[in-house]
Amino acid sequence: MQIISKRANLDTIKAYVPGKPVEEVERELGVKVEAKLASNENTLGPSPLAVRAIIESADHVNLYPDGSCHYLRNALASKIGVDPGQLMVTNGADEALSLIARTYINPGEETVMPDPSFPQYEFATRVMDGKPQVVPLRKDFSYDLDAMLSAVNEHTRIFYLCSPNNPTGTILTKPELEKALDQLPGNVLVVLDEAYYEYVTEPDYFNALDYIRSGYPVIALRTFSKIYGLAGLRVGYAIADEMIIKDLNSVREPFNVNRVAQVAAAAALEDDQHVTRSLETVERGKELLFGELKSLGFYCYPTQTNFIFVDFRQPTDQLFQELLRKGIIIRPGGIYGYPEHARVTIGTDMENKKFLEKLKEIVSAKV
Ligand SMILES: Cc1ncc(COP(=O)(O)O)c(C=O)c1O
Repeated sequence: MQIISKRANLDTIKAYVPGKPVEEVERELGVKVEAKLASNENTLGPSPLAVRAIIESADHVNLYPDGSCHYLRNALASKIGVDPGQLMVTNGADEALSLIARTYINPGEETVMPDPSFPQYEFATRVMDGKPQVVPLRKDFSYDLDAMLSAVNEHTRIFYLCSPNNPTGTILTKPELEKALDQLPGNVLVVLDEAYYEYVTEPDYFNALDYIRSGYPVIALRTFSKIYGLAGLRVGYAIADEMIIKDLNSVREPFNVNRVAQVAAAAALEDDQHVTRSLETVERGKELLFGELKSLGFYCYPTQTNFIFVDFRQPTDQLFQELLRKGIIIRPGGIYGYPEHARVTIGTDMENKKFLEKLKEIVSAKV
């Protein structure tokens, strides 16, 4: 076949490395997976209300979904207190990141982002032939806002902030966000990724909606993949000024969120009990894992999420493989540039115990 030349920038794009799927581990290693703690999903599963809505919607999948997500957008709008016109529902927050890049980045224009953080900011920028300016977090994984603001120039279009940050679990503080908003030029869009927003327990945490209402050029991103337990259905949403949402809608596919996902998300939104149970499970698990990992000599960074970034003080690629063979999947830190760290999702009580049990077996075999 004749070689078809592709766009030159594609060689600069690194493919996303997802957490290893359960099916793949079971197929390749012939082990039964006891805990998948690699992708920060809700380990309690989906809300029973969402499951019922999914079953009921099955009879109607011959029909295209409502491209505007009318009912889900209205339900979300009244839940969080914004106008439905300030919302766009997407095929996961991932799609929102692509649509934002497609809407705002011309070839050669720049974006600024923290590192380590969610790799899709760099991906979305590069797909559009933009130039990512990657600014390291401080040693304790707090934001180095001065360094990020210094990376802004006349070519900058987007300033990405992830809070709580993936993979570190740390947050941006209210004074830091306000400093960024006050010092950024007015034509730079702030994309505030809040995929783990519902897990935050810090009492002084900011409310992104206040800044959107005050007219700052902010897009907040949230998702049904984490606390709402619907990662497999792919539903996220963007909150911003109506003009921004209008522009984002102009590059959206007509039926980007499927019918089943829309009704499941609307049902999950109603299930406060499931959200509360999920938060309680995470808080319990956090306490157990912090205590036990510390007593094994490992360091856990403080987290405001359903996962912990752990400094294992040894190459985690090997530890990851050993845990895999024992049916536990975690996320080694090498892909984030931290080969001695790993990100561990806080599981159910049983999953956390299994993880600790297998980890202790590995550690004691080395002594
Ligand atoms: C910080 C962050 N943003 C966005 C996403 C993507 O979420 P979604 O599953 O809604 O595409 C993730 C998923 O892990 C994430 O960690």
